[in-house]
Amino acid sequence: PLVSSTAMLQAARAGGYCVSAFNVHTLEMLQAVVEAADELRSPLIIQSTVGTVKHLGPDYIAAAATTAANRSSVPIALHLDHCSDFPLIIQCIRAGYTSVMIDASHSPFEENVRQTKKVVEVAQAASVNTEAELGKVGGVEDDIVVEDQDALLADPEECEKFVALTGVSTLAPAIGTAHGIYKGEPNIDFARIERIASLVAAPLVLHGGSGIPDEQVKRCVALGMSKMNVATELRIAFSDAIKAVFQQHPEENDPRKYMVPAKQALFELAADKIRLCGSVNKA
Ligand code: 13P
Ligand code: ZN
Ligand code: NA
Repeated sequence: PLVSSTAMLQAARAGGYCVSAFNVHTLEMLQAVVEAADELRSPLIIQSTVGTVKHLGPDYIAAAATTAANRSSVPIALHLDHCSDFPLIIQCIRAGYTSVMIDASHSPFEENVRQTKKVVEVAQAASVNTEAELGKVGGVEDDIVVEDQDALLADPEECEKFVALTGVSTLAPAIGTAHGIYKGEPNIDFARIERIASLVAAPLVLHGGSGIPDEQVKRCVALGMSKMNVATELRIAFSDAIKAVFQQHPEENDPRKYMVPAKQALFELAADKIRLCGSVNKA
C-alpha cells in the first residue's frame, strides 16, 4: 500500500539525505519513476499538481499509484502538490493520497497559518502527511505564476513560529529556487537554509528542483533539505523522447512505439536525481 511520507522524510532529515518527489502526468511517467526507485532501493514520493488531478481524476491517479506501491518493495507515498483548494485536498485524501500540500503562501502569514492548521487537523486524523509553504517560490508551476519581483524568501523566525502554530509535518521555505528552468543559475540563500534548519526540526522541502546545478542540490541536502520536487526536467525528458521518435518516423501511430522510449528516458533521469539526493539503498 501507499505510505504516508512523514516517516520517510523524518528518516531522511535524520540521515542527511533527501527523498525525490517527482511530478507525473501519465501512467508511463508514474511507472518510470517507480521502476527507478525500485531498482535503486530508494523511498519515493509520486506527486501530481492540481492541474493533473483535474485532468486525470484523483481516483485514477491513486489507483495507479496504489498498484505501483503494491507491486514495489520500496516505500512509496502519493502527494498532492501546491493546492489551495480545501475541498480538492479532502477529495484527494479520500481517493487515497497519503500526503497533501496546502499552499497558502500567497496569503498573509496569519491566513496561511489558519488554512494550514485546518488541513493539518483533517490530514492528521487520516494519517496523511502535510506540507505548507512560507515565502513565495518564483517561476511557473501548473497554473501558479509568480513573477521574479514577487518571489519572496522565507523568514527563519517565521518558519519556526509557523511550524509551532500549525503542527505541519513538513515545510517548504522559499530560499531562492524557482519553478521551471533557470535563466542562468539559481540564487540560493544557503545561509538562510542553515538558519531555518537550526530552528525547525521538521523535514524541509526544496521546490524548483529542475535546473539546480548538482553541487548546489548536494549543499541544500547537506543543510537539511529532505525532499526535492522535480517537475519541469521530467516533462522535458519525456516529451523530447517522444519528439525524437516522430522526427524519425512522422507516420508512427502505435503509442507504445513512442511511450517506451519516453519511459526509458524518464527512468534514467529519475535514477540520476535519486542518486543525486543520496537516497539509494535507503528503502
Ligand atoms: P521544477 O519544475 O523546477 O522542477 O519545480 C518542481 C516543483 O517545485 C513542484 O512543486
Ligand atoms: Zn513547487
Ligand atoms: Na527549477
